[in-house]
Amino acid sequence: MTLGKAMIRIYNTFIEPQAPDFVQQVLQSSFISEGTVVKDFERQLEKDLGLTNCVTLNSGTSALHLALVMIGVQQGDEVILPAQTFVATGLVVVQQLAQPVFADIDYGNGNVSPQSIRAKVTPRTKAIIVVHWAGYPCDMDEILQIAGEFHIPVIEDAAHALGAVYKGRAIGSISPFTCFSFQAIKHLTTGDGGALCLASVDLKKEALSRRWFGIDREHALPTEEGERAYNIQCLGFKYHLNNYAAALGLANMQGIAARLEGRRKVAAFYDQQLDAFPGINRFNYSADRKSAYWLYGLHVERRRDFIRALRSRGVEASVIHQRIDRNTIFGQIRKDLTNQESFDHTQVHIPIHDAIDLPTAEKIVASIKMGW
Ligand SMILES: Cc1ncc(COP(=O)(O)O)c(C=O)c1O
Repeated sequence: MTLGKAMIRIYNTFIEPQAPDFVQQVLQSSFISEGTVVKDFERQLEKDLGLTNCVTLNSGTSALHLALVMIGVQQGDEVILPAQTFVATGLVVVQQLAQPVFADIDYGNGNVSPQSIRAKVTPRTKAIIVVHWAGYPCDMDEILQIAGEFHIPVIEDAAHALGAVYKGRAIGSISPFTCFSFQAIKHLTTGDGGALCLASVDLKKEALSRRWFGIDREHALPTEEGERAYNIQCLGFKYHLNNYAAALGLANMQGIAARLEGRRKVAAFYDQQLDAFPGINRFNYSADRKSAYWLYGLHVERRRDFIRALRSRGVEASVIHQRIDRNTIFGQIRKDLTNQESFDHTQVHIPIHDAIDLPTAEKIVASIKMGW
C-alpha cells in the first residue's frame, strides 16, 4: 500500500488563513515592537484557555529561564527535572549555574514520577520542573503535595500542553509558574514565542518588568527630555514578545478549541484501533485529565523496523526527543533512571496535528496494521 506521494509528516505548522491580514495591519501601523497587540493576545489566551496572569515572551525557553530567575535559583542550587524532555528544560538550569538533578519517569506515559521527585529532594533543591510529555498533564496533586511539604516551588514546562486540563483545571492555572512555547510547530505559533503564567498579580508585575530589561514599561513613561524615567532594581532581559508576533498568535487563536477537539478525536480513534494490537502498548492515560495531544505516543516492539516500515508507506514516525541527561553538559551518566531506560527502547510517536483528520488517521492506522 502507498499513501499517495506526500509523506504524512510528524509535525506541521498551523497558520490561520486570516493571519497575513492581522500581521499586515501591525506592519502598516509601524508600531511593531511590544504594545497593545501583545496585551490583547495575553487577554485572549487567558479568556479562551483559562490561563492565569499570562505574560508573553519571545520563547518557551525564556519562560523557563525567567521562572528560575524569579525563584532565585543560583550557583550551588539543585533543580529536579525529568530527562524525558527537550534540552531547553535542562539548559536553563545550567544557565543559572545550578545542578540539574534528573528524576525518573512513569514508563506508561513519559511523565515525571512523583515518587522519584521525592527521592531526589535534598536541602539544596531550589525548584522542581515537571514536563507534561506530549501534552498529557503530570500527577499535579502528588507533585504539589511533595513541593508543599518541602517548600519548593514547581515550574510546569507546558511546551506541549497548551489547552490541556488536569482534573477540570486548565494547565496554566495550577502552579506558581507555567511555561508555554509558541514555536513554529506547537499548537499555537507566533513564529517563535512563549508565555509564563503566574500564580499572583505581584509575580506577574515582576515578570512584566523582567521581560524588558527590568523596566516597568507601563509606568516608566518618557520624560520631557525623551528618555523613560526608570531605576532598574532587578535583573531584566530582552525576552518580550512583539506586536507582529502577537498578531500572528491572535489570528491563530481563532478556532483553537475546535482544533484541540479535533486532535482528541483522532487520539480516541488511535486508542480504539490500536488497543491490544500485537507489538503495540498504548500509553497509559487517566480519565481525570485531558491531554492537549501535541504528540501521540506508543510503545512498540522492534521500534526501528516500525519506523522504517511506516516511512516506506509514507508515514513519518519519530521518537521526538531522546533523554537529555546523556548530554555531556549535564554532567555524569545516570544509571538509576530505570523506567526512563525502558521508555528509551520502545517509545515512538505517530502523527497527530492540525492537518491530521480522521481519514488521514485511518490511513495511518491501516499502514500500522500492515505490520513491521
Ligand atoms: C518540552 C519543551 N520545553 C521547552 C521547549 C522550548 O520552547 P521554545 O522552543 O519555545 O524555546 C520545547 C521546545 O520544543 C519543548 O519541547
